Amino acid sequence: WGPPLLALVIGYLLGSIPFGVLLTRASGAGDLRQIGSGNIGATNVLRTGRKGLAAATLLLDLAKGWAAVVIVAALLPGDEQLAAAGAFVGHCYPVWLRFRGGKGVATLMGIVLALHPPLALVYAIVWLGLLATLRISSVAGMAAAASAPVAAAVFDRFDLVPLLLALALIVIWKHRDNIGRLLDGAEPRVGRKGG
Ligand code: G3P
Repeated sequence: WGPPLLALVIGYLLGSIPFGVLLTRASGAGDLRQIGSGNIGATNVLRTGRKGLAAATLLLDLAKGWAAVVIVAALLPGDEQLAAAGAFVGHCYPVWLRFRGGKGVATLMGIVLALHPPLALVYAIVWLGLLATLRISSVAGMAAAASAPVAAAVFDRFDLVPLLLALALIVIWKHRDNIGRLLDGAEPRVGRKGG
C-alpha cells in the first residue's frame, strides 16, 4: 500500500503547484482567476498580454507532469501511472485553490512525454496543428487529450489506454464551459481581440 500511495502523493503535490497563478501574481498582473476565462492555464495567462509568462506557464505545467512520472519511475518503479494520475488530479483539483484548478492539457502532455515519448509527438502535432489552424485553444487541447489513448493503442501500449482515456475524459469535462461557448459561437480565438 505504501509505495502506491506515496506515488500518488508525490504526483499530487507536484501537479498541484499552480504556476499560472503564481507567475501572474509575481509579475504584478493580478489574480489570474479574475482575468479572462478565470482558468489557471497558459491560454489565460496569455490574456494578460504577457507572452513570456504564458510560455513559462505552459512549460512549467508540462514539466511538473513529466517530473512526477520521472521521479516516481526512479524511486518507485512500477507506480508511474499512479504518479501520473496524482499529478493530473493535482493540477485540475489543487487543494491550495479550493480544488478549482486547470483543465489539464499542458500537464497531460508532460505525462505522456514521460510515460511513452512517441505519444507526446502525436499530442504535440494534434495540439499545435489545430491551434495554428483554428486558433481555438480549447478545441486544440481537447483533441490532443483525446489523441492520447488512441495513440497509446496504435503504439501497442494498451496498458496505458485506461489511464489516458480517463484523463482525456476529465480534460473534456473540465472544458464544459468552453464547450457551451463553442456551441454558442462565443469561444474566443487565441491572438484575437478578447481572445
Ligand atoms: O488548456 C486550457 C485551454 O484549453 C482553454 O483555456 O482559458 O480558454 O478556458 P481557456
